[in-house]
Amino acid sequence: MCGIVGYIGTEEATPILLEGLKKLEYRGYDSAGISLYDQGQIETVKTVGKLAELEELVQQEKPSGQLGIGHTRWATHGKPSTPNSHPHTSSDDQFVVVHNGIIENYSTLKSELKEKGYQFTSQTDTEVIPHLLTEYYDGNLEQTVRKVIEKLEGAYALLILSKGEPDKLIAVREDSPLIVGLADGEYFVASDIPAILSHTDQIYILEDGEMAAINRDGVELSTVDGKPVDKEIFTVDWDPGMAEKAGFEHFMLKEIHEQPEALRRAVAGRLNQADIHLDEVGLTAQEIKDYNKIYIVACGTAYHSGLVGKYAIESLAEIPVEVDIASEFRYRDPLVDQDTLVIVVSQSGETADTLAALREAQNKGARVIAICNTVGSTIPREADDVVYIHAGPEIAVASTKAYLTMLIAFYMLAIYFARAKDLLATERSEELISALKELPDQVAEIIEESEEQIAQLAKEYLKQENAFFIGRSIDYAVALEGSLKLKEISYIHAEAYPAGELKHGTLALIEEGIPVIALVTQESVIEKTLSNIKEVKARGGVITGITANGVDEKEFDYSIKIPQTDQLLTSILTAIPLQLLAYYVAVERGCDVDQPRNLAKSVTVE
Ligand code: F6R
Repeated sequence: MCGIVGYIGTEEATPILLEGLKKLEYRGYDSAGISLYDQGQIETVKTVGKLAELEELVQQEKPSGQLGIGHTRWATHGKPSTPNSHPHTSSDDQFVVVHNGIIENYSTLKSELKEKGYQFTSQTDTEVIPHLLTEYYDGNLEQTVRKVIEKLEGAYALLILSKGEPDKLIAVREDSPLIVGLADGEYFVASDIPAILSHTDQIYILEDGEMAAINRDGVELSTVDGKPVDKEIFTVDWDPGMAEKAGFEHFMLKEIHEQPEALRRAVAGRLNQADIHLDEVGLTAQEIKDYNKIYIVACGTAYHSGLVGKYAIESLAEIPVEVDIASEFRYRDPLVDQDTLVIVVSQSGETADTLAALREAQNKGARVIAICNTVGSTIPREADDVVYIHAGPEIAVASTKAYLTMLIAFYMLAIYFARAKDLLATERSEELISALKELPDQVAEIIEESEEQIAQLAKEYLKQENAFFIGRSIDYAVALEGSLKLKEISYIHAEAYPAGELKHGTLALIEEGIPVIALVTQESVIEKTLSNIKEVKARGGVITGITANGVDEKEFDYSIKIPQTDQLLTSILTAIPLQLLAYYVAVERGCDVDQPRNLAKSVTVE
């Protein structure tokens, strides 16, 4: 989705803005631009395409100034084009604006403004804002912004510059993230922490309905209706190096390699001998016993982690779990009340549908636990309890380390619930916890031992436009994630099926040479899965089996081994070869691995 950066200070703003925008490239974008204020003039440079094209233009036009705003746009209203890219300027050249989000009532506002004679140069919803600023300007920028905000419906994070009020930067948000970074005599604004992390770790996190008026002497925080806001400074505990590639060819590969460490961070301080410490979940044992149902609600990869969560919670804590896609849950009047526990899962903490689902659940009286990666983002701030997964910044659009740490969060929650309900004997709990502790090393071992093999195997898939992933029980849940990973970064059409379901229709698609990736780890159904593999093999499918030692591999054309672990926990290990396979296939096919076409990292629109 779109990215925002702003700067006011004593340095030349252009390199700071461009560097910030680069750090936000991972969010996905199709055009970019910057505006700089200098000595009563505002200069804007913007273009469709990637930042390299903007940089070229900047080289030619050399905008200058120590105050500026920048934006990467991911088209929603109006195609990717230079006129539609941000910043947008008012017809009288007095105001420039960058905007993340969607102004839902823009067409009404646009008609009203057109009747008053305002000329529009773009198809965007955003362009109404600079014109509204002109319409309502009364000599005081903050007051004018407040009047404009009153007219807007929808979601926005806005940065505004005005020629008439030099040396001032206004930032305001509603349903779209925005942070203000504080350093010595200079201030940074961004939609996302990595954009400013190399300059400061001291930030204000703006809440919905809050505004920051920033000049070189400081930041004045207020609500949009004018009440002063007193806010604590938040210290970001990410190391700036975490948001760099560190020698890897792509962020995705780096993030796959970071998974052992991410898992260690996710469990740090939470695993005891036989118990799980999750003090951040404020439920009493009685409350846990009283829940008759759990809903897990999320999107995409986070949703897939919830499918594994269902197996873990149902099998250990014996609470029925329904897993729902957030964009469906929010509109289908779900049967949720105070006896239902809702768990929402989100890496970014800003996904619009997941946030709406959380609010829907709370409105119906349910308590909501968030499993989240991004500290200070909206979802954990609104949830009743938060389990942070501590994966560190995930830059590649395709989620890997966040997925793995979501899985381990679910395993911890399942054991925690089961112990609270006295359903898990100490011995079994100790067994599971000791297996959890081994997982980071086992993940490292899989990467070490199978990466080269998978890189070679990836070459086999180059000629194929279709692939299938099969498995039973937890293996099926992971197969869904493997299939999503392959399609989103390599653009190969991939489907995941419960192995036993193929013969009910999909087997018709299996023909000579079709790659089928089979996950075979669940002891109780190994024989059944092997029979399904035979059915595929008989029709020409080429089988890559992912399994632990001891499974009959004679039907496999290729075999990838995972170390032995508890049956319930295999998802954490089987996910690794699938991530590596998707990565190497995408590389072989020359795809833009970190920023796949049409996709964005943080999906803040419906
Ligand atoms: C796929 C992927 C997406 C996200 C989904 C939810 O690799 O990353 O499917 O999982 O957009 O995002 P979050 O977790 O930020 O709510």
